[in-house]
Amino acid sequence: MVLTGAGMSQESGLRTFRDTGGTWEHYRVEDVATPEAWRADPELVLRFYNERRKDLMKALPNSGHTGLAQLEKYFDVYIITQNVDNLHEQAGSSQVLHLHGELMKVRSTRDPELIYELDHWELNLGDRCELGSQLRPHIVWFGEAVPNFYLAIPIVEEADILVVIGTSMVVYPAAGLVDYARPGTPVYVIDPGEPALGSRKVTLIPKKASEGVQQLIEILTENLDINNEKS
Ligand code: APR
Repeated sequence: MVLTGAGMSQESGLRTFRDTGGTWEHYRVEDVATPEAWRADPELVLRFYNERRKDLMKALPNSGHTGLAQLEKYFDVYIITQNVDNLHEQAGSSQVLHLHGELMKVRSTRDPELIYELDHWELNLGDRCELGSQLRPHIVWFGEAVPNFYLAIPIVEEADILVVIGTSMVVYPAAGLVDYARPGTPVYVIDPGEPALGSRKVTLIPKKASEGVQQLIEILTENLDINNEKS
């Protein structure tokens, strides 16, 4: 199981949230990423996500993303990501669970089951679902439930190896996921900064995602019989 955060996509040109120069230095969370913000100023909220979508449409997966996709040759890899970009999918990872929603999807404000794929960057006031109500970003805002968390728990509980990449580990419930691992499960953390690991025992690879994933692949495949690829 690989838990990823904004640092995973930093080398693809997408800003992280809490590093120096990060997104939350440019915007206040409460102005753009809460249900209250949506009620108070939906236009600003839409503009914020339109900018994020525009950036995403210019971005490409980096070698960290592609390295994780290649790991599927040797392991059953489940990616649980806090990222709302689709760079893991673009890199070819086949099992990706998004905890905080997806930037390239929008949904009805009347029926949350009505979810649509966007193939362009812009969502505006007046863009409506088939029931006639305003569309909103398919994003989990602060203060909203995280429904996919309950799908993530059994994946972590069954994992033989945990990998955490590019997340400050301060936003819950996502940051608490690693605590569902069976005792003794090895945990690798790839991050050039100082994620909040608490007293967890981990193997830290203090590198950016691209270089760190290459090192991880070397560690994890070192003792594998190379003829023993998954069929
Ligand atoms: N490679 C790997 N890690 C990196 C890189 C990089 N190139 N650059 C920065 N990092 C690390 C930072 O050191 C930090 O630990 O990525 C982490 C980014 O942390 P945050 O900006 O807090 O992002 P994240 O943990 O994903 O945020 C969680 O908060 O605002 C919300 O919903 C948003 O999903 C997001 C959640």
